[in-house]
Amino acid sequence: MEKKTLKFPDGFLWGAATSAHQIEGGNTNDWSEWEKKSAERLAKGAEAKWQARKTGQPSSKFPEMFDQKNYISGRACDHYNRYGEDFDIAKSLNLNAFRISIEWSRIEPKEGEFNEKEIEHYRKVIEAIRARGMEPFVTLWHWTLPLWLSEIGGVSSKKFPLCFERYSQKMAKEYSNIVKYWLTLNEPTAVTSMGYLSGVWPPQKKNPILALRVFKNLGRSHNAAYKEIHQVSSSAQVGFVNILNYFDPFKKKSYLDKLSVGLANYFSNKKFFNLTNNNDFLAVDYYFHHRLKFPAKENNANRNITDLGWEIYPEGIYHILKDYKKFNLPIFITENGLADAKDEKRAKFIREHLLWVHKAISEGVDVHGYFHWSLLDNFEWDKGFWPRFGLVEIDYETLERKIRPSALEYKKICETNTLKI
Ligand code: FCB
Repeated sequence: MEKKTLKFPDGFLWGAATSAHQIEGGNTNDWSEWEKKSAERLAKGAEAKWQARKTGQPSSKFPEMFDQKNYISGRACDHYNRYGEDFDIAKSLNLNAFRISIEWSRIEPKEGEFNEKEIEHYRKVIEAIRARGMEPFVTLWHWTLPLWLSEIGGVSSKKFPLCFERYSQKMAKEYSNIVKYWLTLNEPTAVTSMGYLSGVWPPQKKNPILALRVFKNLGRSHNAAYKEIHQVSSSAQVGFVNILNYFDPFKKKSYLDKLSVGLANYFSNKKFFNLTNNNDFLAVDYYFHHRLKFPAKENNANRNITDLGWEIYPEGIYHILKDYKKFNLPIFITENGLADAKDEKRAKFIREHLLWVHKAISEGVDVHGYFHWSLLDNFEWDKGFWPRFGLVEIDYETLERKIRPSALEYKKICETNTLKI
């Protein structure tokens, strides 16, 4: 069969996304404290979930999940010290953009006191990205909090928006000459629902009223940061990262299933966006497809899944992009990826998602870049280290980095700005 070449727009940004707590190592924040308290419970929970019926013993393809050490971020990938080496790898893969986050707890370890040494550290990090020909995308808040802030209620505290504003202003003043693209918050809906509704993540609340307050606080925080950053730099581009799920009805003609889809769309994709006043671009993370059967039961086909059991559904990215077209703003896909320890599905996953991204572009959606999650294997929050999301494999004993075959496939796409199908 003849091969087709799909060209992406000139200047398209090809990147990988990371977050500080998941790769740096050596952080002291609300998550590192929570990990210490929770590791035993999480390991035992995994044992109970994976107990084999026959033997009564826990059994999984990923036995690391039964080990408490799996749940402690500790030195992670030691990216804090090895960022140069990691960006060399990113450059060797022909990436022209790179997403990082700044660890607030390093910058402001005590309320109102900024740590100059850490400010210098991130300056070097950002410069190192630039020096390798990559455009830095900088997330200000990827979920972790300084301890002083979590102690007064974290994102649910009345003080949160002001604290975030002060921190954002400081970051803008320090880095606006080397950062153009700012991402204020990462996935406000995910962090609110996991921390304040399902109670799985710190601070493990199950309180819809508090969740609503958190939502409002985060909306205000984004708006304040947007203003602060623009006051420092008029050419800055500011947005927040929205995780968008693709919902479709279990039965195409069922009014009730369609109602479930409408509600799910509103609460998970739109409500937070409506709280924000200004965005220079839209940043989208895409991982999930849910087929909804009234009153909201999920009925995923789940035939093609990742190591975490998440359904792989590339077409979903097309639908969410088409839906975002109406805002008439540039769009960046700031995360998309999968846990795949054997690297069996990653190359196909990337190609198929990009095929749908390309289709959206060809139908007029203004997509400017794609960031794969993630460059490195990393600490996947309450799941710990066993899920392997990296284009690059990490040996957590030796910290050796090994480029996976799928990364070389991605490299070809980045290098040629085309996808051959
Ligand atoms: C996203 C998070 C990111 C990572 C991926 C797998 O929701 O932003 O930190 O955990 O999921």
